[in-house]
Amino acid sequence: MAIAGAQAQSTTNAIAEPRPATVPAHVGIIMDGNGRWANRRGLPRLAGHHAGTENVRRITIACADAGVEVLTIYAFSTENWRRPADEVVGLMRLLLQRIDREAAELHRNNVKIRHVGALEGVQPRLAERVRAAVDLTRSNTGLVLNVAFNYGGRQEIARAVQRLMAQGVRPEDVTEELIDRHLDTAGLPDLDLVIRTGGEMRLSNFLLWQAAYAEYYSTPICWPDFGREELYQAFAEFGRRVRRFGGLS
Ligand code: IPE
Ligand code: IPE
Ligand code: MG
Repeated sequence: MAIAGAQAQSTTNAIAEPRPATVPAHVGIIMDGNGRWANRRGLPRLAGHHAGTENVRRITIACADAGVEVLTIYAFSTENWRRPADEVVGLMRLLLQRIDREAAELHRNNVKIRHVGALEGVQPRLAERVRAAVDLTRSNTGLVLNVAFNYGGRQEIARAVQRLMAQGVRPEDVTEELIDRHLDTAGLPDLDLVIRTGGEMRLSNFLLWQAAYAEYYSTPICWPDFGREELYQAFAEFGRRVRRFGGLS
């Protein structure tokens, strides 16, 4: 299976925790709480974003080790542009500084990077590095790391409808499967588990379509402190859920 490559090439230490018994195929993480993590330490919010960026590699490799097929991380929402300019500028600068190095490290771990969201509206230099990261890892066969950046679930659905209309699809030919194939996540499985760090209990416009039957897990732990152990606890909880998809079990 594809993931074996990622495990074979993983450069991390031996797995401290046992491999979880039940592993969701597609995990989404709303990486929230960076600002609060920093506030509690008397640090500027950007220090929280720095720490949060560090954690992405750790959790990606933990997911690959566990046998997750797709990990979607919510890095920046279309609504996050509403934040004060200095935070937005600082975040973009941070991503620009880190993206090449992180992509190279993930590439060594056989991770395939994808992007969902719009690159229009993102500064061209950063948009170019996102495309380069996707290109670099295109042929990798391990975990798919799907980065939701400048992403909004409603905008993604609107984009899918625009694509269909541009192709002249007739209304009676519109099906769920057709919409699915025109979303940014085309070809990826539906979400099985959504994890939100930082304690809030909302989706904040994350993968609205794909999360229709996802299990939901919220933890008060802020993103920079969310480690492999907490991740595997979430998987254990996922394993205890009964998924009925509207039927009877
Ligand atoms: C999530 O952390 C990261 C982004 C939205 C970019 P926050 O920055 O939202 O942290 P809190 O919620 O203010 O603690
Ligand atoms: C969700 O967190 C977006 C990301 C983690 C990128 P927010 O902090 O933006 O969500 P709200 O504003 O609390 O709903
Ligand atoms: Mg937040």
